Amino acid sequence: MAMFRTLLCWLTCALLLSSCTRPLPDADVIVIGSGIAGLSAALEAGAAGQSVLVLDANSVGGGHAVKAGGFALVGTPLQEKKGFTDSPEIAAADLLAWGEDADPVWVRRYVESSRTEVYDWLTGFGVRWGFILDTPEHSVPRFHFASGSALNVVVPMMRTAFSRANLDFRWNTEVTSLINRNGGVHGVRVRDLRTGREGELRAPAVIIATGGWQSDLAFVRREWSPSVPQPPRLYGGAGHFATGSGIRLGQEVGGGTTRMDQQVIFGSGLPDPQDPTGTRALQTENPSAIWVNASGRRFISEQAPSKLADAAVLQQSPATHWLIFDADGLRTLRIRDAVWLGNPAGIAPLKAAGLIRQADSLTALATGAGLPEMALEATVQRWNDAVAAGSDADFGRFNSAAPDPTARTVRRSPFYAIQLFPMTRKSMGGLAIDSSARVVDAAGRPVRGLYAAGEVTGVAGINGRYGGEGTFLGPSVFLGRLAGRAVSGGSDALRIGPKPVAPPATLKVSVDPEYRAGALTAPPVALPELINAQRPGYWHFEVAHRIVVERALDCTACHTPVWPTSPANSLAQRELQLNACSTCH
Ligand SMILES: Cc1cc2nc3c(=O)[nH]c(=O)nc-3n(C[C@H](O)[C@H](O)[C@H](O)COP(=O)(O)OP(=O)(O)OC[C@H]3O[C@@H](n4cnc5c(N)ncnc54)[C@H](O)[C@@H]3O)c2cc1C
Ligand code: HEC
Ligand code: HEC
Repeated sequence: MAMFRTLLCWLTCALLLSSCTRPLPDADVIVIGSGIAGLSAALEAGAAGQSVLVLDANSVGGGHAVKAGGFALVGTPLQEKKGFTDSPEIAAADLLAWGEDADPVWVRRYVESSRTEVYDWLTGFGVRWGFILDTPEHSVPRFHFASGSALNVVVPMMRTAFSRANLDFRWNTEVTSLINRNGGVHGVRVRDLRTGREGELRAPAVIIATGGWQSDLAFVRREWSPSVPQPPRLYGGAGHFATGSGIRLGQEVGGGTTRMDQQVIFGSGLPDPQDPTGTRALQTENPSAIWVNASGRRFISEQAPSKLADAAVLQQSPATHWLIFDADGLRTLRIRDAVWLGNPAGIAPLKAAGLIRQADSLTALATGAGLPEMALEATVQRWNDAVAAGSDADFGRFNSAAPDPTARTVRRSPFYAIQLFPMTRKSMGGLAIDSSARVVDAAGRPVRGLYAAGEVTGVAGINGRYGGEGTFLGPSVFLGRLAGRAVSGGSDALRIGPKPVAPPATLKVSVDPEYRAGALTAPPVALPELINAQRPGYWHFEVAHRIVVERALDCTACHTPVWPTSPANSLAQRELQLNACSTCH
């Protein structure tokens, strides 16, 4: 008995000692990434009363959503208003048919709750749903837009998140590894990209919401599906920080991965002449154009559903194609993905770089584009005849029963040719999670303290082999909330609408003291020098202010005495900064 008591006493001492020496947690929850999944997780955990620390390598939040469009949502008031009858049954059947091997359980969960978990919840932050587009993968129109891009969704989310007293954001903070002890995750190791300083941050729960890996082209090729030929030229079409770092973080602590070869590769990438790395492309389309391969021949209906069209481009040898159109067709040319396209010069840099070729005759166009002249002329002639006859016998794009108003002849000079290449876009595989968004190992056992949400999980296999329109943003919100509830010890029961928390007078933000010191006075800045300095941690500042210079914008269009030309630290400054986003995005 005495021995037992000694042992007990010793154990108690050891426990007490270890709790004294163990550093205090910095938050209840650490969220890595402030994209739409990370924001959803943080808001959800915050509403459950957790203190949340969000870390992002970028100097601004929002992630890919600032470039993205719409949400696939099921049975919403907007659908009802427009007279579209939708239901979880119809939506599940659509997703399973399009994706071919989508995860039926996750599909079911998503389609049954997207109305409440995504539509209603986001509406509660002030998101206003504007219109719905009809797309081939959805038998009922359900591709919802918040009056423009998804920037109009993440900005209201950030506005709310910044005002919550128990949510804290740290920018320019890259997570380099997870703190893993006794088989569980207890925090993260970070590097401040601006100062280079390294450190540790602790929390009993960590949510990885770092997005996909589609901007690491070597990573994309490594995981390439063996059943699809690899294109010789492949461009990046995802965001600057989509490097897959979260997959590595999870793997290093034993997390498993799934569906890694399932990636959305578009066939429609136009090399971005303003990209200093020469590896990035802009998504380009023109419904008036015909598509020809290197032999100068059409190879598919230009209006084929995206999954068939993209696959057909990858099957060409070499994997590339040209859009061919005429003076009338120029009006329907759409190029997206870069802020500079909105500059007054518009597409002039693309013409100057020879990426949009123009000629007075088809022969000259073919010579300039490096296409066989006779073949191109014959293809255009055959196309014009088909349009006149009202039937595309070669590829079935239109016929008398199903006319295509966008199909028009190519005959009025000048003629145009644009060569496009395969480009990466979205990841449909990633870290393996269980039904509560816990990261699991290869045997399906949870890694204690570790959760994941959003594109880093390949949105849980909801897409299967083929990505659909709107089936990343919606599922990222859904999974983010799920992870936020799971770390709060919550059940799957859902709180509808954001829980109001009184905004603090000034927001507690963790800012490096060095730049806190200079934060409230406007330093006299020589912008061109700052832009070209290529300082680590200033990527977004540099790309954004290059646009400021190109458009000759006045500093006071965004900066004011309340938010001078300095980082935004107070709540008032952060709100002013959020007002500036839509100038460019
Ligand atoms: C151009 C474009 C258009 C799209 N259009 C649509 C659309 O219309 N509909 C749709 O449903 N989907 C669309 N998508 C896909 C969709 O936008 C993304 O799947 C979704 O936004 C992913 O959100 P996320 O929060 O998971 O990741 P992300 O938005 O990628 O956010 C991840 C965040 O983590 C940060 N981060 C990464 N690594 C680290 C690290 N180690 N340490 C700290 N921070 C880190 C990043 O800086 C980033 O802010 C589009 C994608 C692109 C590229
Ligand atoms: C003066 C122009 C400008 C303003 C204002 C601006 N941005 Fe940007 N932003 C850019 C440019 C340019 C890029 C680079 C990518 C591109 O060209 O699309 C970019 C990229 C981004 C990215 C990275 C997208 C990716 O590639 O992953 C995010 C996130 C982002 N901006 C968020 C914001 C937010 C949030 C705001 C408001 C606080 C904001 N931006 C304000 C110009 C701007
Ligand atoms: C269209 C809006 C807009 C205009 C106009 C604008 N800025 Fe900014 N500025 C921003 C945004 C957004 C940020 C935050 C960028 C970031 O952190 O990535 C910012 C941040 C800054 C910073 C702080 C960088 C840091 O974090 O240390 C400086 C300095 C700055 N701007 C200088 C200028 C100057 C000088 C001008 C006028 C020549 C100007 N800005 C015009 C939107 C704008």
